[in-house]
Amino acid sequence: MWWVMRAVVFTRFGPPEVLGLREVPRPSPSDGEVLIRIRATTVTSAETGMRQGRPMWGRVILGFTGPRRAMRTLGLEFAGEIEAVGAGVTRFVPGDRVFGFTGFKLGANAEYRCLPQAASLGAMPAGLSFEEAAAVVDGASTALYFLRDRAGVRSGQRVLVVGASGSIGMYAVQLAKHFGAHVTGVCSGANADLVRSLGADDVVDYTREEVTGRGGRYDVVFDTVGKLGYPAARRVLHRSGCYLPTTGLVNYWYAVMAAVTGAPRVRCGMSADKTRALPFLRDLIEAGGLRIVIDRTYRLDEIVEAHRYVDTGRKRGNVVVTV
Ligand SMILES: NC(=O)c1ccc[n+]([C@@H]2O[C@H](COP(=O)([O-])OP(=O)(O)OC[C@H]3O[C@@H](n4cnc5c(N)ncnc54)[C@H](OP(=O)(O)O)[C@@H]3O)[C@@H](O)[C@H]2O)c1
Repeated sequence: MWWVMRAVVFTRFGPPEVLGLREVPRPSPSDGEVLIRIRATTVTSAETGMRQGRPMWGRVILGFTGPRRAMRTLGLEFAGEIEAVGAGVTRFVPGDRVFGFTGFKLGANAEYRCLPQAASLGAMPAGLSFEEAAAVVDGASTALYFLRDRAGVRSGQRVLVVGASGSIGMYAVQLAKHFGAHVTGVCSGANADLVRSLGADDVVDYTREEVTGRGGRYDVVFDTVGKLGYPAARRVLHRSGCYLPTTGLVNYWYAVMAAVTGAPRVRCGMSADKTRALPFLRDLIEAGGLRIVIDRTYRLDEIVEAHRYVDTGRKRGNVVVTV
């Protein structure tokens, strides 16, 4: 029936089992919007946090006692085809293959999603499957935002990527190399070969060795999974260096203190607008400059298993959901 679609819905915060596949009304595009037939989406660590209503401050956006009605379908990144366009749409036509990011409105764990044509949406890189295209959006654009836009990483700098086998981390290793940096990746021994194969010059197995015990100094420490923390990072940063945390409210406090005391800078932020990143990534992928790592692929009706796996904190790269 054309007026319904399948979507993953949750009405309370909790374990993966709060997620269920439901039939819901299929959206139709308003003026200036496109209707996307989603072919692939992902499960990210950020979304497993949202599912649990964590961090607590996030409930200001998500809802205090349970997810707000408009946020009951997760799904941040996706790839698919334009199914229909609303009046006034000039950027896309039906049949275009696109990849994109829904942002705080979420909703990509579904068969269809409407977005404004000016949203974080771009033509898919040639030669990629829908699964690969969905798996590159958030991790790679977040890595690009922090390394290029927040830290201005340049040739010859020494960059430490903590969490180098995660979604952001494995793109961060490759992008820092692309910008000409010397890259050290921090991961467990099980992922060391993967991180080296992505271009890391050096790997630290955090289960055997403290990165702070090595004696080296870095220009940039990118703490992609929030496991190192600023107090430890500043011990391995040059005084003019820069700490990049993807998560943790406390880092805004450290940023102020560092500015006052002249300690290594802390550059916090949120990569929400991907409109400039997507064309950059498309060009880089088409030139063969970015490898996409998919750990596991699930079907939409296996969403509970997908969340259980991401909850382990051990995923390598990305977990994709085919729709
Ligand atoms: N600020 C923003 O704009 C923004 C945007 C997107 C996401 N985020 C946030 O960024 C964070 C990371 O997201 P992600 O998707 O990249 O994570 P992820 O893919 O879930 O990270 C999983 C990886 O973390 C590694 N890991 C676990 N403990 C570690 C440790 N102690 N040291 C080093 N590596 C460790 C694991 O490797 P091993 O198995 O080898 O330990 C695993 O491969 C999340 O908190 C998310 O909310 C922020």
